[in-house]
Amino acid sequence: MALRARTPLLLAALAGAVALLLPGAVEARVLLSLDDFGAVGDGIANDTQALVDAWKAACATGGTTYLNVPAGKSYQIWPVTLAGPCRGEIKLMISGNIIAPEDPEEWSDGDQGRWLHFSGVGDLSLSGGGIVDGRGQQWWAGSCDDENCTKYRPYEVAPMALHFEDCRDVSVKGITVQNSQRQHLVFTRCHDVEANYLRVTSPEYSPGTVGVLVVSSTDVHIKHDLFSVGGDCVSIVGNSSDIRLRAISCGPGLGISIGGLGENQSNDMIHKIKMDTMLLSNTKNGLRIKTYENGCGYARKVKFAHITMRNVANPIVIDQHYYSASNSNRGTPCGTPSASAVAVEKIKYIDITGTSATERAVTFACSDAMPCRRLYLDGVNLKTVGGGSTSAYCYQAFGKQVGDVLPESCLGKEKEDFLRLQAPTAAGTPQGDTEDEEDDDW
Ligand SMILES: *[C@@H]1O[C@H](CO)[C@@H](O)[C@H](O)[C@H]1NC(C)=O
Ligand SMILES: *[C@@H]1O[C@H](CO)[C@@H](O)[C@H](O)[C@H]1NC(C)=O
Ligand SMILES: *[C@@H]1O[C@H](CO)[C@@H](O)[C@H](O)[C@H]1NC(C)=O
Ligand SMILES: *[C@@H]1O[C@H](CO)[C@@H](O)[C@H](O)[C@H]1NC(C)=O
Repeated sequence: MALRARTPLLLAALAGAVALLLPGAVEARVLLSLDDFGAVGDGIANDTQALVDAWKAACATGGTTYLNVPAGKSYQIWPVTLAGPCRGEIKLMISGNIIAPEDPEEWSDGDQGRWLHFSGVGDLSLSGGGIVDGRGQQWWAGSCDDENCTKYRPYEVAPMALHFEDCRDVSVKGITVQNSQRQHLVFTRCHDVEANYLRVTSPEYSPGTVGVLVVSSTDVHIKHDLFSVGGDCVSIVGNSSDIRLRAISCGPGLGISIGGLGENQSNDMIHKIKMDTMLLSNTKNGLRIKTYENGCGYARKVKFAHITMRNVANPIVIDQHYYSASNSNRGTPCGTPSASAVAVEKIKYIDITGTSATERAVTFACSDAMPCRRLYLDGVNLKTVGGGSTSAYCYQAFGKQVGDVLPESCLGKEKEDFLRLQAPTAAGTPQGDTEDEEDDDW
């Protein structure tokens, strides 16, 4: 595709940019439109350079800059990195559509994993009611091993639709993100993030199309969102803390996932995760914590409350034996010389009700190396879809249950049961066994 002459347009756009001082406000507000930078918006043209130029202009402007992606048009954008830091605050108003090229051949080697990549930005918001469409059909087809995509090939190189890396104060609000090639929204090493009022959808058969992936980030709020995807609705990995999910609808998809933690013997520390008021329907898992064998670190202080399950295959899962071929025990594991595992402790399940698609509604498959401790169940009522009773599986799982808990778990009744056990203490076991777990809000 021919490149248009950009420079005159850029100058014209800057000259035409509206700068006004609001009464009482000191900072300038600048309004820019993608069309000012030569974007065509017909869904066919290559509008990448227009976006790059518009971003540069917005990024160089102090105060608050509104960058508009006009309604009623479709802007086709090739893989691109929009980098910060910028001088002021940028409000990217996506009112129209941003679409990806459909053919994976359009991605060069240097573009692996990338589509709309925001790097090193602060004070950025995306809103506007429009649509970001990864048009990932060909990517999914390329990673399926059979016609119904029940088996996957590795799809490592498929792009993340919206990737925010090393960012702070980012909000994504009130847009639709759909048909991502792989993950829809990814926050890597970000702080103070909001992902609210989003509609995130891909077909159930699209492999790995995670809704929101949180990687080593803190203070992330994910609220009032609808996820209907092929992968996890929300997945939290790396060193992440202070993550809140609320008012989420999830399904179909793989459910909500913390981990896999400790892949390749890495040290992953996840703590202070709160999720409440969620509906999970027709998902393959419900609330899942999964850790690799021989990993390090912990998942600690996780609270799931007021969650309704509808036809969920595995509503509550802790799996400390999550496996990948690349994770076979190579050399010395971190932790003890003999074995190690990511610790899973202080996990609360409060008011979890609804139906399970399978008979086993609760699975606590913990490890000899690092038994799960201080699990807490309060007010759990899970039946099979047909109304029958469900069961719980436990291995090396300790904690207590209070109130009515169905299925009956293996945990101590009204009393923490780990203390009564002479379980071998693995190295790295945190101190404070005698502290009352009620003393904090987890
Ligand atoms: C689209 O434009 C971008 C930015 O100019 C360029 O890097 C890319 O190669 C273009 N793609 C095609 C297919 O022309
Ligand atoms: C794929 O799904 C169709 C329709 O459900 C079915 O007839 C077919 O046997 C499936 N193919 C495989 C390989 O499972
Ligand atoms: C998490 O933090 C630990 C300790 O600082 C570090 O060793 C590890 O690499 C971090 N993990 C990730 C995924 O960044
Ligand atoms: C683990 O190792 C495998 C193979 O070396 C690699 O493909 C994968 O990305 C690694 N995972 C992490 C989380 O580093």
